[in-house]
Amino acid sequence: MEAVREMQAEGGGGLASSRVWDAQEIDADFEAFLSHLRRLEPPADLAPGWVHSSEYWLVDGETYLGRADLRHALTPRLREYGGHVGYEVRPSARRRGHGTALLRLTLERARELGLREVLVTCDTDNLGSRGIIEANGGVLEGEFQVEGHPHPLRRYWITL
Ligand SMILES: CC(C)(COP(=O)(O)OP(=O)(O)OC[C@H]1O[C@@H](n2cnc3c(N)ncnc32)[C@H](O)[C@@H]1OP(=O)(O)O)[C@@H](O)C(=O)NCCC(=O)NCCS
Repeated sequence: MEAVREMQAEGGGGLASSRVWDAQEIDADFEAFLSHLRRLEPPADLAPGWVHSSEYWLVDGETYLGRADLRHALTPRLREYGGHVGYEVRPSARRRGHGTALLRLTLERARELGLREVLVTCDTDNLGSRGIIEANGGVLEGEFQVEGHPHPLRRYWITL
């Protein structure tokens, strides 16, 4: 809950951004919030055009540090824009290497799933995310302008 408030204070929904969840709503029904985050995990039935996706949290003891989601396959839109992995670190825990560790650990899960190559994308001006991907062996495919997205985007491939 502290992390959600931090991320909302920062102006982004962060953890809660895939739907309009406010902190009070999450507090009122935490289980529903978790179920929502995990709604694409196997063996969930998927609507057409959706792929399975797993949610992981990086924690230090009782302290939540960040999260990642790992999409098990690419759709045309994920191939163009979202990639296999999304991640975020709570604002108060940034610049301490947690983002780099979060991607490294998520790549281990990807390997366990049998993925051989993982696509990770970020905005060209997101220097933190670029650092994370490059530290994890990302090879730049290129920089692209994607329809509906205001910033140039970098696509990297990581061979597992
Ligand atoms: C991007 C984000 C995940 C970085 O997390 P983090 O835990 O701070 O990352 P790390 O500490 O592992 O830093 C990785 C590298 O990027 C650098 N870095 C991190 N934040 C940076 C910033 N704001 N500006 C410049 N460099 C930055 C670090 O110095 C480090 O480089 P180094 O290895 O050369 O020292 C975090 O800022 C975040 O959650 N942002 C909002 C959500 C987001 O952008 N997610 C990624 C979408 S693609």
